[in-house]
Amino acid sequence: MMMKNPETVSIEKVGAVAFVVVNNPPVNALSQAVRAGLLNAANALAADDEIKAIVIACAGRTFIAGADIREFGKPAVEPHLPNVIDQIEAMDKPVIAAIHGTALGGGFEVAIGCHYRIAERGAKVGLPEVNLGLIPGAGGCHRLPRLIGVEAAIDMIAGGAPVGADEALQMGAVDEIADGDLRVAANAFALRLIEEGATVRRTSEETTRISQVAPDVFERARAKFRKAKRGQMAPLRGIHAVEAGVRLPADEAQSACRDTFLQLRASRQSQALRHVFFAEREALKIPGLERAGEPAEINRAGVVGAGAMGAGIAMCFASAGVPVTLLDTSQENVVRGLSIIEKNYASSVAKKKMSDEKAKASLDLIKGATDYNALEGADIVVEAIYEDLELKKSVFKKLDEVCRPHAILATNTSYLDVNAIADATERRDKVLGLHFFNPAHVMKLLEIVRTERTSEETLNTALLLAKRLRKTSVVAGVCFGFIGNRMLNAYRTEALRLALEGAPIAAVDDAMFEFGMPMGPFALMDLTGLEVNVKMRAQTAPGDVEQATFAVVDRLYEAGRTGQRSGAGFYKYEEGSRAPVSDQTVDQWIAEEAEKQDVERRSDIGAEEIVERCMLTLANEGARILEEGVAIRSGDIDLAYIAGYGFPRHEGGPMFWAEQEGLDVVQDRLNHYHERFNLARWRPSDLIKRAAAAKTSLNDALSHQ
Ligand code: 3HC
Repeated sequence: MMMKNPETVSIEKVGAVAFVVVNNPPVNALSQAVRAGLLNAANALAADDEIKAIVIACAGRTFIAGADIREFGKPAVEPHLPNVIDQIEAMDKPVIAAIHGTALGGGFEVAIGCHYRIAERGAKVGLPEVNLGLIPGAGGCHRLPRLIGVEAAIDMIAGGAPVGADEALQMGAVDEIADGDLRVAANAFALRLIEEGATVRRTSEETTRISQVAPDVFERARAKFRKAKRGQMAPLRGIHAVEAGVRLPADEAQSACRDTFLQLRASRQSQALRHVFFAEREALKIPGLERAGEPAEINRAGVVGAGAMGAGIAMCFASAGVPVTLLDTSQENVVRGLSIIEKNYASSVAKKKMSDEKAKASLDLIKGATDYNALEGADIVVEAIYEDLELKKSVFKKLDEVCRPHAILATNTSYLDVNAIADATERRDKVLGLHFFNPAHVMKLLEIVRTERTSEETLNTALLLAKRLRKTSVVAGVCFGFIGNRMLNAYRTEALRLALEGAPIAAVDDAMFEFGMPMGPFALMDLTGLEVNVKMRAQTAPGDVEQATFAVVDRLYEAGRTGQRSGAGFYKYEEGSRAPVSDQTVDQWIAEEAEKQDVERRSDIGAEEIVERCMLTLANEGARILEEGVAIRSGDIDLAYIAGYGFPRHEGGPMFWAEQEGLDVVQDRLNHYHERFNLARWRPSDLIKRAAAAKTSLNDALSHQ
């Protein structure tokens, strides 16, 4: 076993107080060296008669942010965290956690294993394990309810959201807030304890907060989180662990909780969620960009097109504190755009997603305009007019004339050729796609589309901007539909094909909903409106989309059934209702279309086949996107589909799904459907074939291309 590493955990003595300082950049994760260092420090200080109180603090930007997630795939190495924390709690001298930044997961468990906690006002504490498909595995499930009560503990453990220091103080999770220097305040706190002769206060031995637990509290929590975290195992296991934590003796509760933690750690859901956690961070790293020049400053923005999309994009800037001008051709359109914005902010305030002051301040940052000269001061302009290439080119020509030379010009097109749009300007290096998803102020995904000439500096600026706008960004290359819409197209094609073969549309939707999608593909088309799909297909080269498969969409559209807003699409909708009602007319039209296209119909298409075919289609299209270089790595495709289309995060994304199924199995199943349907899109992509043959991941096969 590796012994104490003085650099990772050091002891600084100040009179009778010892500071145990963890220094494991970037986030002080509890690696083996940190665990061993803490244990050694506890043992050494227990035997040091001069020391009367101990402060555990951290160097760098944060208190311990949790277990080291990178160690999770490897065999656990001693000392184990629960034992380290038990040892700290068992100390006979008061131990105080001094918290700055974020005390998360195992880090917060260390803090609540200490006898006292002092936190900086800006600090946050939480148990986000559930976001990684886990439960707290080092005592959190039995200690936290003893500190803050069962209901609040369940919310933190099953919900996973951190709380700020003030709230933590109110709950009883911290004892004092330090407004000045944390170390000075922690030292004063320790001296006070020594002076008062304060004894240790072991959280595991507290019983007041758990002595009167409402009988239905666990059942209510289960009902709540079954809905809020549909399909996820960890939140329910977390509630169960809290229940054990308050009903069983501490050591039994601890071992039950640890077993659950270890089981979950090996589960597919946890692996998927960890994959997404790292994919989110990796997506920001673009090969070759490390040496790129300084990103440009964005102090002022412009948005062209005051429709729902443009309005939402303007809100993204304003909410991030960037003043923005919203431009449209007529005053009437501008006023309409501004009123959409006002309504959206009012609804965010009503839903308590934003404070009234923040909404007002953001609104103040948005100005309307009809004259392009109003965009003269912008550092970036995002065009969000409707999808017409010639019109977009003329807008870019105009923007190129009025905007300052350094300004970045971005298009929000969902599928048009960004290279062609850039060619309308004299600053091709400063043109790129910034593809927001509807509603732009809510949806997390931002596809950053780089053209052949987008400079590294422009790309770098866009990546930083995305972070500032609190978006999940994914870099894509130019192709029809980029990553997201190209995947969506493939998915829809298969959903329609299943319907042509005889699967009722409600059965397709139900199967995908049960898989974890927020709604099925047909309900989604009804929600977004069929016209978007019809117009998009009008722009594709023949062969890009299986147009015949979409014939039903065209028929519905021509009949005025354009989706939810028109009261009917694939489903019917009662006046004022969003609940889809199946409609025999649609079934009839689908059957007629199948006959016309000579598609053999069956009545035995089950949920398993529906999910398999939709997922295989997504995976195969994703692999093509990868081999064409449109996406940099498979995790980016997963992220795009999760953040842009609501793919269940705990399934890890379509490419993760394929790798978990086994690429050889995926290849076999694709071949199976290819033989059966003789459609080119079922042919396994070369990348899948190569990765399956070499038994490697898609990314590895890609790097050896
Ligand atoms: N383990 C290993 N690496 C971690 C990590 C962790 N717990 N947390 C963050 N990192 C890494 C990131 O991967 C990133 O690495 P990179 O620079 O190579 O990409 C680097 O630290 C910086 O992270 P961020 O870019 O996310 O930095 P931010 O400042 O934006 O956010 C943070 C910091 C809030 C701490 C955020 O990283 C975070 O939420 N981390 C995860 C916290 C968490 O989930 N903790 C619970 C872990 S499970 C656990 O503790 C089990 C226990 O009960 C036994």
